[in-house]
Amino acid sequence: MSLYITTPIYYVNAQPHLGHAYTTIVADTYSRFRRLCKEDVRFQTGTDEHGDKIAEAARAAGIAPQEYADRISLLFQEAWPPFNIKPDTFIRTTDEHHIRTVQDILQKVYDQGDIYLGSYSGLYCRGCERFLTEKELVDGKCPDHQTAPQPISESNYFFRMSRYQDWLIDHIHKNPEFITPERYRNEVLSFLSEPLEDLCISRPKSRLDWGISLPFDADFVTYVWFDALINYLSGIGYPDGEEFAQYWAVAEHIIAKDILKPHAIYWPTMLKALGLAPYQRLHVHGYWNINEAKMSKSIGNVVRPETLRQDFGVDTVRYFLLREMSFGLDASFSDESIVARQNSDLANDLGNLFSRSLTMINKFAGGTVPSPADLEPQDKELAGAASHMVTAYTSHMQNFAFNRALQEVWSVISLANRYIVTSEPWVLAKEPSKTPRLNTVLYHLAETLRLIGLVLEPAMPETCIKMATALGISGDAHDKQNLVDHGCWGLTRPGVSIKLGASLFPRLDKKSKQPPQPSPTKKKQESPKGGIKEGSDAGLVSFDDFKRFDLRVAEIKAAEKINKSDRLLKLTVMAPDTRTVVAGIAEFYTPEELVGRQVIMVANLKPTKLMGVTSHGMILASKDEGGGLALSALTHGVPPGSKVS
Ligand code: MSP
Repeated sequence: MSLYITTPIYYVNAQPHLGHAYTTIVADTYSRFRRLCKEDVRFQTGTDEHGDKIAEAARAAGIAPQEYADRISLLFQEAWPPFNIKPDTFIRTTDEHHIRTVQDILQKVYDQGDIYLGSYSGLYCRGCERFLTEKELVDGKCPDHQTAPQPISESNYFFRMSRYQDWLIDHIHKNPEFITPERYRNEVLSFLSEPLEDLCISRPKSRLDWGISLPFDADFVTYVWFDALINYLSGIGYPDGEEFAQYWAVAEHIIAKDILKPHAIYWPTMLKALGLAPYQRLHVHGYWNINEAKMSKSIGNVVRPETLRQDFGVDTVRYFLLREMSFGLDASFSDESIVARQNSDLANDLGNLFSRSLTMINKFAGGTVPSPADLEPQDKELAGAASHMVTAYTSHMQNFAFNRALQEVWSVISLANRYIVTSEPWVLAKEPSKTPRLNTVLYHLAETLRLIGLVLEPAMPETCIKMATALGISGDAHDKQNLVDHGCWGLTRPGVSIKLGASLFPRLDKKSKQPPQPSPTKKKQESPKGGIKEGSDAGLVSFDDFKRFDLRVAEIKAAEKINKSDRLLKLTVMAPDTRTVVAGIAEFYTPEELVGRQVIMVANLKPTKLMGVTSHGMILASKDEGGGLALSALTHGVPPGSKVS
């Protein structure tokens, strides 16, 4: 199987922003996914450089349109490689071969009688670069641009689009996947329930000359949409190129809802007139809003992808965009939401699982993945969940449900983190007789991480290289990884050496977007090596000071999540009195797995209110460098409330 996937070609009147980055990241992710399924993929993006808007922007910049288009097109070409986006072709509508293809197509459609000269009076929206119908206006204005369209009357050439209306309705009915998600298919069908008008496909040069001349009338240029849509054909060498023969039959386009009509109505009818099969699928997504508001230059809230990349790193941006938007619906971007995703999903969940597992393989198994021994139910549960993840992930990716595909992966990440907590490898490591059990646990962690790294490649290619390298899969072996041959449980070879590296994702400080810095007071107390300063008792406490802490064994009787908090759990503990303690451990433990545990608590802290709940104590726990957390515990049960000293 092969795939030809495209993004819209972006207008060069504006620099790349978050919306362009999203569509292009989706196209890259989907390309990588299909390549991971061992398919042959061709991925195209580019720039749309003709038309009113560009001519006007060039005029405002005081330069010729071509020079202007060259400058901005370059910004788009340079925007994608830092995001690890690798299109096979970057097409420009000012490319010589594109212009020739547009003219050949115009001549062919004209010769067969599907283009005719007529006169047109209509309401023209400069923003949309098209005539709008009365029905499309809201309070007399274009709903997308909030401007009143101009009444224009002129001679123009028309494409007999109406001729193909019935065929198009029939095609959409017979091919439920032609336009997805379904809401957009319904929107198109509803639009097609009214008679379709012919499409005006020319502009008189007296009004606009920055365009491709009509081959049969030099007084006109082509309407920008007729020019732009053809990029999908000219980019693969229509009509007689090898790539055209190979890829047109497997074409899929990705767009946002703003350009649904040209792609779902103009384009299939143009293809039909040309005697070509329509594309296979049109994938339509919603808009990214910024803090709930529309992204716009005038509001001054345009988000630049490069700024985001520098603040958060490429894989955090890719992950965030794919995870946060449900494909087809609008989504809202904010710095807080990306910081939250990095800290919780990436640093805590994935980063923590990765660093804890590798550290333990290193420490308890000498840095090589051990052989598993007899399996217990929880091992089978983890292996089953990891295998199921590959299947469910694949089906969601096929359907462009990127957020769901990632959720599948994260549910296995959570399960594996819980598996560590319940199997307690650090306890097993202390007893030589438990080595086979320890080895089984460590093997299961390594194998789960391998599968997670494999399926995350399309979304987070850089992270996956780090994960695979750490698990001993690098270079050529890594490049050859695919879902067909490597997507099943049990392929990690016992004995393979792991490589410890830096943590995958730092936790970010919510406000500064930077990893948290040690506070100046802490720094003062530390030697350059991080130990206590020699010859000084700064940082040391006296025994009398220590005695002031009342440390007690607390038994957890009940635990529940605190509303609106991802971090906090409300614990009811017995120590021996019954009291409420609020603990910031919700990201690491589920309420169920806490009940019955004994932990160490500071019992004489002043009560403090957290998210509306008063806490009467503090549970002790240890946080590791990878952001993991382990609760304090006792080697065996003691009466609740026993003093700890
Ligand atoms: N040049 C035409 C497309 C011609 S394709 C044959 C065009 N260009 S554009 O620069 O305006 O790009 C529109 C596309 O950019 C959208 O369809 C979408 O892919 C992306 N986005 C622009 N703003 C967006 C958001 N706010 N949110 C999500 N995607 C957005 O239309």
